[in-house]
Amino acid sequence: MTVGAGPVLSGLPEGFVTVSVGLDRKADERAEAAAAAEAASIGWEYVRRKRLAGRLSEVREADVLVFETESVRLIRCSFGKETCSLRFHPSTAPLRIAQAKAGKEDVMVGAMRLRKGDSVLDCTMGLGSDALVAAWTVGESGHVVALEASRPIYLAMDYGMRGYRADADVASAASRIERINEGYSPYLRGCGDGSFDVVYMDPMFARPVPGTPVDSLRTWAVAGMPGHEDLEHALKAARRRVVIKVRKGEAEKDLRALPGFCVFHSSRSGSVEYVGFEKAGSGD
Ligand SMILES: C[S@@+](CC[C@H](N)C(=O)[O-])C[C@H]1O[C@@H](n2cnc3c(N)ncnc32)[C@H](O)[C@@H]1O
Repeated sequence: MTVGAGPVLSGLPEGFVTVSVGLDRKADERAEAAAAAEAASIGWEYVRRKRLAGRLSEVREADVLVFETESVRLIRCSFGKETCSLRFHPSTAPLRIAQAKAGKEDVMVGAMRLRKGDSVLDCTMGLGSDALVAAWTVGESGHVVALEASRPIYLAMDYGMRGYRADADVASAASRIERINEGYSPYLRGCGDGSFDVVYMDPMFARPVPGTPVDSLRTWAVAGMPGHEDLEHALKAARRRVVIKVRKGEAEKDLRALPGFCVFHSSRSGSVEYVGFEKAGSGD
């Protein structure tokens, strides 16, 4: 892991929107009209389902948002063939919230020293599990802003969270997360001093932990660690703490070498740890 290079924002393949088909292999007309309106609002091309295969065969790579009855699926297609897909799923959030309700402190929440009423900037939304747990923890009097630099991931998660109903705690937390499709570098530069109690970052690890839910993001995810300037802006934007999730041991030579950075939590068995900076006099 190297601090200083900053994230690399990559160009995107073409973006299309369509709808799923029913058992009779027909698309619902009302769903088609709704999806066409969404396509217009996000600036992606709407393609009627029966024309999709033909349109995809004309482009080398494409991302397709498929509006289904209760959710949205993101598909990456290469020469007309689906190569991978992503759909919002709260992942570990329901279990983590259930454990917190039973009195077991969540490791991330502990590293953040999060409490009811806090404001949190989650710089790296991804699947949104951490943002959901943070939003549940800070409650209705708190506020969570979640940034996602990847447009396809942002769209899949935003539509997915909007339509999610299965778990009441998760649905309520999702409805309170302010989701923004922007990279943390420009966003942090525009933040006033002390805008959030806690600023949190969970960047893509250079050496992935195999078999985690984050694998499903990899095709679309923005890679790279925060640079020194990003960390400086994060420190200004945070009233109390900046917390960064890293692969265990990988923060040694860079983040931990920065003045004031230390490990807030490192589990004996797990492969990740939470490092960061606590502001003097922040009351923690
Ligand atoms: C490891 S995942 C985060 C997982 C997340 N904490 C969760 O609970 O699901 C990292 C995410 O951050 C996004 N990302 C990476 N660099 C970013 C940046 N500079 N600004 C905003 N988002 C970024 C990636 O696209 C990816 O979706």
